[in-house]
Amino acid sequence: MLQNGIANIVEKHQMIPVVTVHDVNEVDTIAKTILARSVNCVEVTLRSAVAWDAIHVFQEKYGDQLLVGVGTVLTEENVERCSKSKVDFIVSPGLTRNMVKAMDASSIPFLPGVATPSEIVLAMELGCGFLKFFPSNLFGGLEAMRSYGKLFQGIKFCPTGGINSENYKDFLALDNVVSVGGSWLSE
Ligand code: 3PG
Repeated sequence: MLQNGIANIVEKHQMIPVVTVHDVNEVDTIAKTILARSVNCVEVTLRSAVAWDAIHVFQEKYGDQLLVGVGTVLTEENVERCSKSKVDFIVSPGLTRNMVKAMDASSIPFLPGVATPSEIVLAMELGCGFLKFFPSNLFGGLEAMRSYGKLFQGIKFCPTGGINSENYKDFLALDNVVSVGGSWLSE
């Protein structure tokens, strides 16, 4: 199945909160903010010392209400830890052949990241059709998405970086944008 079934997740969850937790005590507030927005998934980034602890708290306390994914997955070691922790999905800001191989072998739905045409062509070569477009605000945002829609027909994107309550609907209105991600959803 394409990227271990990531389509089921990004098509069902059009808004993906991206959270970096610095203190596990913040998890309750973050979860409540997300759930109050009727959003039922979270991407916890591996950008803090307590990231894995926070992931486990999300899973234990909110696993029945939220899909718990991991973001900023950069290495095969990170992927292994995702497998051990039985996370619901994996997001990476980039992609390499080895990373795609490792994520594919994990059986966990995964969303690799791209920004440029060459990266998209590589992703296509590796059989990936659902991609995080990151950092959207630094690589052309809406205009880039429109232009990539013409170039890369059939490829679906989840733009992240600079998406907010003002502009997310403009992104979701595009045919090639399947979902959006961002930190604003948990603030
Ligand atoms: C990410 O990792 O996807 C971004 O840090 C989220 O970007 P934002 O803070 O601009 O929403």
